[in-house]
Formats: sequence, structure tokens, C-alpha cells
Amino acid sequence: MKIVLVCGARPNFMKIAPLLRAINKHNASSKVNPIEPILVHTGQHYDYEMSQVFFQDLELPKPDVYLGVGSGTHAEQTARVMIEFEKVLLKEKPDLVVVVGDVNSTLAGALTAVKLHIPLAHVEAGLRSYDRTMPEEINRLLTDQISDYLFTPSRDADENLKREGIPQEKIFFVGNVMVDSLLFNKARADQSQILTQLKLAGEGYALLTLHRPSNVDEKHSLTNIMSAITNISEWIPVVFPAHPRTQKNLREFNLDPHATVIASPAEAKAWQSQSNMLITPPLSYLDFLKLEMYAKFVMTDSGGIQEETTVLNVPCLTLRDTTERPMTITRGTNMLVGNRPRKIIEEASKILASKSQSPPHVELWDGITAERIIGILARIE
Ligand code: UD1
Repeated sequence: MKIVLVCGARPNFMKIAPLLRAINKHNASSKVNPIEPILVHTGQHYDYEMSQVFFQDLELPKPDVYLGVGSGTHAEQTARVMIEFEKVLLKEKPDLVVVVGDVNSTLAGALTAVKLHIPLAHVEAGLRSYDRTMPEEINRLLTDQISDYLFTPSRDADENLKREGIPQEKIFFVGNVMVDSLLFNKARADQSQILTQLKLAGEGYALLTLHRPSNVDEKHSLTNIMSAITNISEWIPVVFPAHPRTQKNLREFNLDPHATVIASPAEAKAWQSQSNMLITPPLSYLDFLKLEMYAKFVMTDSGGIQEETTVLNVPCLTLRDTTERPMTITRGTNMLVGNRPRKIIEEASKILASKSQSPPHVELWDGITAERIIGILARIE
């Protein structure tokens, strides 16, 4: 059985790594129905910090095919992936295509496969924010509609899919592949020297990430958020690994004068004597995971980080008005605070005054989701 796996952007890599490991395990333990994986990297993310460093940290093999599509408008990026990916599918004639998550490469890979009548599996199916202004929501909705195998991370995702008319026999509640990566790599992340490099003590800092267009592309929104963060940094140092588009906008809107900005962790020296906010380039998977593990709390607009903080039992303030991961809220680790300064500051101060809670239990977020998925795919006739 030949399976093409598609990845393209930073949040895809930690979802693909456990799937490849599970395929290797399947091939080693079972002589029937061996799986031949072909890894395709679209090149949506191409900077060393956004892509290659994740291949190293996650011990991913070099992609079999690199499409090199790069950045562009949504239409340009999606179309370029489709044009290049179609050539790969026509040459390889796989039995199945697997896409993960909700980035433009996910939808482009999915559309290309179904138009060639190749069966399609979507890992992380069924998540819905119900905010159609988010590009990821459109990518999720459309990918799920055309997938043959929908692997969901939580029961709320199953319910969303059923409401949209997806037949039950296509839906498989398997758990969360990103949690597979987290649990597999936690001990290695603990070896990271990032806290020492950035002169930080456990629970002695807050961690911030921001990259959603709605937060960082508009001067007004980014100014609001940064004013809240500047306030919070008077109580606790804030470390801010910034996505390339966020770095660009912080400079353009002149919003980084209260921060120490460094080009690499090695430059951190005595940053806390100059300011209480540190802006770094995007960090590697293991360094970032270590920062998450030891943060007093996390502020983010990412989807995956809401889930990682739930597993790590670290309080998270999500700088959005909606989430496609409601379970992180019901489990008590995550809270939606939008981009209103007063709310962000108020909730941060409550966390600083609170004691830690006992870790939540989440059904099937147990580190072996990828094995469940490959077990199901290996039985396809
Ligand atoms: C993409 C995903 C988003 C995911 C995020 C994680 C979509 C619609 N969005 O958003 O869901 O949470 O990745 O990072 O697929 N850039 C670089 N270097 C890179 C890649 C991008 O400098 O390696 C800059 C470019 O200026 C580019 C911009 O970032 O135009 C946006 O990149 P793009 O891949 O289009 O979207 P992200 O914001 O990264």
C-alpha cells in the first residue's frame, strides 16, 4: 500500500512525525499489508526556523518530494501546491493521500487528491471555530467534506462532522497526534538549555506567541495586544518568540521599543536589565516545548498551543474570541480573552495570584493516536 503524506507549514510537522513512526512500527511488526510512505513537503514554510529545524528536532526523514511553493496570496499558494502536487500524484499513483491539520497545504493537497479519485484521509478532522473569516476554518470545512477517512481528536469534533452530514462510518475518534509528539519528546525537550540561555527560572516568566492575521496584520489590534503585554511585563518577564510576519509588523508599526529584540537565543545576555520583554526569532520544537513546560502561563493565538498547554497543565490565555478546540476550555486550562487589553491584563493578574490545579484528563490523548490511525488504514482493502 502506497501512502503519500503531505506537510507544508510549521504546525504540520509534529503531526506527521508520529504517523511515520507508526508506519515504520507497522512494517516491522506485520508482514501483511506493508505500507510504503512518500513524504511530500509543499514548501509553504521555507525558513530554517519554520521548517528545517523541526525536521531535525522531530527526527523526520528528508522529504521524498519538495514542491518549493513558498509564500503568496491564499489563491496563489493553494494553486501552486495543487499544480505541483498533481504531477507527484500522477507519477506515484498512491493508494491513499493523508493530509493533516488546517493550513493551505492541507486543503490544496486534499483537493488535488480527490480530483484524481485517490482516497483521502484527514488527520485532525472535525474542529470548528465557526468563524469563517479564519482561513483555517475554510480549509477544515472543505477538507472534511471531501475526505474518506476522518480522524478526530475529540468527541466534539465527531459531533460537528455529524451535524454537517458526514456519515458515521467515515469518522474515527482516535485522539490527538500532536500530543503523540509532545509525549514522545518531552524528556528530550527537558534537556534543552533554552532557560539558561535566556536567563529564565521555572515559572518565572510568561510565554507569548502571536501570528493570526486578525491580530498582527492590523495596527490597531497589534497595538492593543502589545500595550497589554507591556503592562503584564511589569509583573513578570515575557518571552515572545515571534513569527516572521509578526516581527515584520512589529517593526513596521514601531511596536517593539519596550522590548529587547534578539536575532538568536545566544544573544540574550542580560536582557532583563534593559527591558522585561524579550522578542526572539521562532524557536525550535524542543526549545519551545521546554519554554511551555516551565512557563507560569502562556498567551497565544495558536490552535496547537492551546492543546499543548492543556496536556502540560499550564494556564493559557487565548488571544482570540473563538476556538476550534473547546475542550481546552472545558478542561479548565484555557480561556478566551480576545485582544482587549483590560481583559488580558485582568486574567493574567488572576493567574499570577492563583495556585496550580491538578492536571486534566483528556480521552485518548495518550501518545498512541498515530498507531490507532495506521492500524485502521492498514486494514483498508
Ligand atoms: C500558516 C497557516 C496557519 C498556521 C501558521 C503557523 C494557513 C492559511 N495558515 O500561517 O494556520 O498557524 O502557518 O506558522 O495555511 N513567512 C516567512 N517564512 C516562512 C513562511 C512564511 O517569512 O518560512 C512569512 C512570509 O512573509 C509569508 C507570511 O509569513 O507571506 C505568511 O506565511 P503563510 O504560510 O502564508 O501563513 P502563516 O501566517 O505562516
